[in-house]
Amino acid sequence: MNALPKRVAVLGASGYAGQELCERIEAHPGLQLTAAMSAREGVVPDEPALPVDRPLEPLDWKRIAGLDAVLLATPHGASAPLAARALELGAKVVDLSADYRFGDVARYERVYGVEHPHPELVEEAVYGLVEFERDRIAGARLVAAPGCYPTSVVLALRPLIEAQLIELSAPIVADCKSGASGAGKRPSAALHFGSVQDNFRAYNVGQHRHAPEIETYAGASGARVVFVPHLLPCFRGILSTIYVQPKPGASVSEARAAWERAYRGEAFVKVFERGQPELSRVVRTNQCHLAIADGRAFPGAEVDAAGEAVTWVLTSAIDNLLKGAAGQALQCLNLMLGFEEAEGLR
Ligand SMILES: NC(=O)c1ccc[n+]([C@@H]2O[C@H](COP(=O)([O-])OP(=O)(O)OC[C@H]3O[C@@H](n4cnc5c(N)ncnc54)[C@H](OP(=O)(O)O)[C@@H]3O)[C@@H](O)[C@H]2O)c1
Repeated sequence: MNALPKRVAVLGASGYAGQELCERIEAHPGLQLTAAMSAREGVVPDEPALPVDRPLEPLDWKRIAGLDAVLLATPHGASAPLAARALELGAKVVDLSADYRFGDVARYERVYGVEHPHPELVEEAVYGLVEFERDRIAGARLVAAPGCYPTSVVLALRPLIEAQLIELSAPIVADCKSGASGAGKRPSAALHFGSVQDNFRAYNVGQHRHAPEIETYAGASGARVVFVPHLLPCFRGILSTIYVQPKPGASVSEARAAWERAYRGEAFVKVFERGQPELSRVVRTNQCHLAIADGRAFPGAEVDAAGEAVTWVLTSAIDNLLKGAAGQALQCLNLMLGFEEAEGLR
């Protein structure tokens, strides 16, 4: 453990992910939460909404100069200039938004429909999916923490695609369910208690911006993903059910073995031998739980001529606010600042 605590600020501390970050940083033995700030210039936050014993402060760049790191829990569009300013002041940056997730400026601009204000930083940014980018994250100044849905889907898909077990000529169907905190704290009619409680529905079908992110990081170019997000009547957690076509002759046990190879020794990914992941076991943890099954293994199922399964069903569960946001960001920050990766996350 380093002798002096590393000094860290959270901008956007009033949001769901920001609050989660503040709580985890306060509990981290090697970090000092030096500032928990709004990310808007000239705004004095009126709600002391933090889960830690300190006030939410207005944005003050003078207090950010000289810090070891800044975490941005701010929306896409707002994050990019904040990251550039914090880097200029000498801090390392973990951005939870999508602003630096695509290594390709043109792709970001097509997907998000805005001009990137700092294209010069895009190439330098490292995608913060720790299980696949550990060494690059450790050496990075700027890390883009992955989106919540992409984290759950890519952790399931990538080892199987890299092991060439999945037929990429068939679409991959990612049927994903999230609690309402995935949309952030801004109120809207669709997220009102009366619309969410006792209800369940799909949204942004075929249009969600996490689909291109999943395709980019799925493990091979040419993966085509049909992504259908759903809103669960609960606050936190994502359960993704992913339907894939295996390559001819590939078996479920080979797929499970590919996961086990990819995640051997990983603190935060658990591969189920039997049974199914469920939200109650991952919520408030930084864990991703994975399971795989043959989708037509029921007694009496008629198999195709080659006797092969047609569809595999992968299930992946995470807490969107931890492994899908603040927890994964802290995993990255630990690596960037030289701490043990799981510090503050167990
Ligand atoms: N929620 C999740 O599950 C999740 C998962 C992965 C990644 N993320 C990403 O993490 C970031 C934060 O998400 P969240 O769910 O915590 O959102 P949130 O609850 O809506 O909080 C957003 C935060 O950003 C601030 N903010 C909003 N618009 C701003 C602007 N134009 N300029 C400066 N600050 C602004 C808000 O401040 P005010 O209090 O002043 O409004 C608030 O502190 C987003 O980029 C989101 O995509 C979220």
